[in-house]
Amino acid sequence: MKAAVFEGPGPITWRDVPDPGIKDPGDAIVRVDVVTICGTDLHILKGDVPEVAPGRVLGHEAVGTVVETGRDVRSVRPGDRVLISCISACGRCRFCREGRYGQCAGGGGWVLGHTIDGTQAEYVRVPFADLSVHPLPNAVDSFDAVLLADIFPTSYEVGVLNGGVRPADTVVVVGAGPIGLAAIATARLYSPGRIIAVDLAESRLAAARTLGADATVTVSEGPEQLVEDLTNGLGADVAIEAVGVPETFEMCTRMVRPGGRVANIGVHGKPAVLHLEDLWIRDVTITTGLVDTSSTPMLLRMMAAGRLPAAELVTHRFELGQMEEAYDVFGRAADTGALKVTLGGPQHTALQAPAPPVAG
Ligand SMILES: NC(=O)c1ccc[n+]([C@@H]2O[C@H](COP(=O)([O-])OP(=O)(O)OC[C@H]3O[C@@H](n4cnc5c(N)ncnc54)[C@H](O)[C@@H]3O)[C@@H](O)[C@H]2O)c1
Ligand SMILES: [Zn+2]
Ligand SMILES: [Zn+2]
Repeated sequence: MKAAVFEGPGPITWRDVPDPGIKDPGDAIVRVDVVTICGTDLHILKGDVPEVAPGRVLGHEAVGTVVETGRDVRSVRPGDRVLISCISACGRCRFCREGRYGQCAGGGGWVLGHTIDGTQAEYVRVPFADLSVHPLPNAVDSFDAVLLADIFPTSYEVGVLNGGVRPADTVVVVGAGPIGLAAIATARLYSPGRIIAVDLAESRLAAARTLGADATVTVSEGPEQLVEDLTNGLGADVAIEAVGVPETFEMCTRMVRPGGRVANIGVHGKPAVLHLEDLWIRDVTITTGLVDTSSTPMLLRMMAAGRLPAAELVTHRFELGQMEEAYDVFGRAADTGALKVTLGGPQHTALQAPAPPVAG
């Protein structure tokens, strides 16, 4: 089959790799119908995620059709259309039993496109399939559902829930990429008083307004002053960091009010300075987190009910074989205006493994 292979820091290549097969009784082999690229994949290409070894098939978000299941899999069968979650869950370890699937200590967690081959391929082996894929209702389109593999649960759990967004809050979202935009959309479920979006790019801020930001500001326009002015000098109740660089994390810690919360979502490749000499006296809570995807079933019901924006987050569609071009467009978002790019198409070569039973 063809797959997007990490060749070491630098661009991926779309090339032939061995077909996946069942390795463990809990595995499912899924034919990838729709897949997308994450900001985290770009971090991998920059070398920010050193555990990803050259030769790894990337991708941790997809919608597909189950083609084969291991003997222990109970919840899905061949032919089922499923969402592949970015987090796999053994279901048995201490963390899984608390719903903290992202921290799974039994071989799951963020493994796809990280420590095992991922979804940017014609087929993928999904471990612990019972808890790691979600059968999709007919009401949900595959091109919309792929946004539930990572960006919606991440923004909602690591941004909105960790940030404790409440009615009437002033919420600042720093970074208006797909994650920040989905944080704006899901923060609105809690009726905040005002959402302020911050980014470098005006095009991203226009998308933020479409998704429900009440005020938008570029970094050069002085977001900290704006937040101060809009909150009578107090600061934001919640600051959500959705970029992953030291400057934006530090900005969030300066913009939050005493007693407020900073919810970090960004994947950081470098240390950021924690100014405890200013913060210690301000009762500020700072949270970090890898998504658990424990909210995915709820978000799926929201999407089926038409309560989550999806089309607004996707700017480009490609066929699966256009992976290299899709990476290029997504990686140059400032020039191309790309938000989420989705890939899907009819051209699948037949899976070679396992060999069909020989008659006679
Ligand atoms: N914690 C998790 O579980 C998790 C899961 C998925 C993604 N992430 C991370 O979330 C972050 C956002 O993801 P994304 O897909 O939206 O990424 P993205 O790169 O598409 O978006 C980042 C946005 O930040 C803006 N930006 C860059 N530098 C800035 C600065 N100095 N000030 C203000 N804005 C700035 C960019 O213009 C862009 O719009 C990434 O770091 C990604 O790796 C975390
Ligand atoms: Zn991701
Ligand atoms: Zn586990």
